[in-house]
Amino acid sequence: MTTPVAQIVDAAAYAQAVEDAVKAAAAYYAGGTSPLDDDTYDRLVRGIEAWEAEHPDQVLPDSPTGKVAGGAVEGDIPHTVAMLSLDNVFSAEEFTAWTRSLTRRIGRDVSQWSVEPKLDGLAVAARYTRGRLIQLITRGDGTAGEDVSHAIGTIEGLPEALSEPVSVEVRGEVLMTTDQFEHANTVRTAHGGQPFANPRNAAAGTLRAKERAYTVPMTFFGYGLLPLADTEAALAARLGEAAHSELMRQAAALGVKTTAATAVPGVTAETGEQVLARVKEIAGLRAELPFGIDGIVIKADLAADQQTAGSGSRAPRWAIAYKLPAVEKVTRLLEVEWNVGRTGIIAPRGVLEPVQIDGSTITYATLLL
Ligand code: IVH
Repeated sequence: MTTPVAQIVDAAAYAQAVEDAVKAAAAYYAGGTSPLDDDTYDRLVRGIEAWEAEHPDQVLPDSPTGKVAGGAVEGDIPHTVAMLSLDNVFSAEEFTAWTRSLTRRIGRDVSQWSVEPKLDGLAVAARYTRGRLIQLITRGDGTAGEDVSHAIGTIEGLPEALSEPVSVEVRGEVLMTTDQFEHANTVRTAHGGQPFANPRNAAAGTLRAKERAYTVPMTFFGYGLLPLADTEAALAARLGEAAHSELMRQAAALGVKTTAATAVPGVTAETGEQVLARVKEIAGLRAELPFGIDGIVIKADLAADQQTAGSGSRAPRWAIAYKLPAVEKVTRLLEVEWNVGRTGIIAPRGVLEPVQIDGSTITYATLLL
């Protein structure tokens, strides 16, 4: 796949692109319906970046570039360590170019990679004190997040008590499985609400909703384990030196759900070729998974490599998201055809402005009465 970039021709088009991206990011992070699908958003941000590189003196303060969550969200609970975003690659060539730049930066080849699915939900930090879950915080702007502790007890995989009385922060993704999404929409519509457009949207809206007459379950998968201010010194030192794959084993041993329990467990790989082979495997399993993924996250596994590479203001330099093509696109409904089937059942069909999804052109949508 070639690098998708939206073409921005002048300052007016740039200002419009920034406005569109800011609106889309706000809806995406608040659980509203985004006017742009993920592909279009990524392409727009790349176009904005390209234009800003040519006109560095005209960058608008609202621009989503260089900001975690496109600058869309805020919160008032400071994070212990910044909750960063990830830079993206869209092809094997871009991935290989990224590994080369990482090799140059750290002065050696990365000796071990960790490869895991990029879960399509929302990042949260779960703080445990002496083994008890005491606070749940969204990523927010990366520096501070929103307290969503009211959701404790509704998230499978995020136990209220760990198997050991340790003080740690678990980071990971909250999402809805396909079954949970369907259940959430059934319950929501029964309460007179509008159904959520997709599982990610449903998870975002549900996580932030404070006073609802009902609760619906969500799922958590951990992808980070770090010390807190009150973590015992020896444990804090161990966590700081452990490889990512080892941290994931420890999180699972503490009772936290990780991708180890899924059809696409996190694995380690020694070479870029092995990473790319695993990327293909995960991409091939995507359609059968009971939860959404929008890519594969590749991390330098060893703490020493991560420390040498360091982080920028938005993303670590030791990890990258290999984005998969979007399986959801926004398009226009042109008309509805009211067909009568052979059995006399009315079968309405939506005629769509044709849209490409993962190599196929979609022109019709079956509508359910
Ligand atoms: S690692 C410092 N691992 O993707 C590393 N993130 O686009 C930051 N995500 O904010 C995150 N699956 O919400 C990591 N296996 C995974 C992930 C993952 C999904 C999300 C996370 C992050 C976003 C960046």
